[in-house]
Amino acid sequence: MPEGTSRLRLKVLGSAAGGGFPQWNCRCPVCALAWEGDPRVRRRTQASIAVSADGEQWALINCAPEILSQIQSLPALQPQHGRRHTPVASVLLTNADIDHVAGLLSLREGQAFTLNATAAIHDVLRANPVFDVLAAGLVERRHIGLDAPFELVAGVTASLFPVPGKIALYLEAGEIAAHGEVATALEGEQTVGVELSDGISRLLFIPGCARMTEALAARIAGADAVLFDGTVWQDDEMIRAGVGSKTGARMGHMAMSGAAGSIAAFADLDVGRKIYVHINNTNPVLIEGSAERRAAEAAGWEIAEDGMDVVPAGATMETAS
Ligand code: MLT
Ligand code: MN
Ligand code: ZN
Repeated sequence: MPEGTSRLRLKVLGSAAGGGFPQWNCRCPVCALAWEGDPRVRRRTQASIAVSADGEQWALINCAPEILSQIQSLPALQPQHGRRHTPVASVLLTNADIDHVAGLLSLREGQAFTLNATAAIHDVLRANPVFDVLAAGLVERRHIGLDAPFELVAGVTASLFPVPGKIALYLEAGEIAAHGEVATALEGEQTVGVELSDGISRLLFIPGCARMTEALAARIAGADAVLFDGTVWQDDEMIRAGVGSKTGARMGHMAMSGAAGSIAAFADLDVGRKIYVHINNTNPVLIEGSAERRAAEAAGWEIAEDGMDVVPAGATMETAS
């Protein structure tokens, strides 16, 4: 890490994958524990983080359906003065999945902010007129190129990089009609990771990743913290749990365990903090003390919870939230 004190701070607003935890219609073994109030599991909203360098202006990275309750539980994101105000200066999207974009519909009350995404992700929003509730004169839709650093929010530089993934679930029918199948590990503008820096520390946010590549491993090495795709423990976990027919790979998510899993992929990468986010409700790492949770922790991983602070080593955290 370069000299100086990093002011970069990151808050996990939501740590669950699509559906949240527990999911409204699910009684898989892990959701059942949550519905029964078992103290080994905690409820989680869908995946989103907030980032700031000054504690006053914040960027949201992804905007979950629960954005309102996430703001209600974090004072730093609440209106601070006047009749209308928000500390949320910008939003950045890493793909067009429902769990990452649906919250935009709750940010519609005539408030100015900048909406950052790749052209491919903006195209998906443009094709859905419901997002036109974001007033054109107030919400600037900024197109961000890959590997083109930009100021995400005061004092924070972000850079987008391609991550193997697929198009959003609700676009799959059109893709199958056009091409007969869905590519699950595309590298381009539809799924990206975010590198965040204040010039001193470097944090990576990669909530969806279909597989590790050499380029990705090289980027991850040496980061102060990486928040990474923790959707499933085992590739066929949803099938085993009796709640679906899809593997993690089919959904564009690499598993944590196994030879091709993220625990193995990160084993030789030097990373300050390794944190799983976007955790599916079937994933047994959600259960404190489970064998899977202990295995992930023994490999140096933290399991994100809603409200978790990620502050680089030596950084200041003087905001009151
Ligand atoms: C995913 O991460 O695979 C998606 O969020 C699935 C979904 O849209 O529910
Ligand atoms: Mn998702
Ligand atoms: Zn479940």
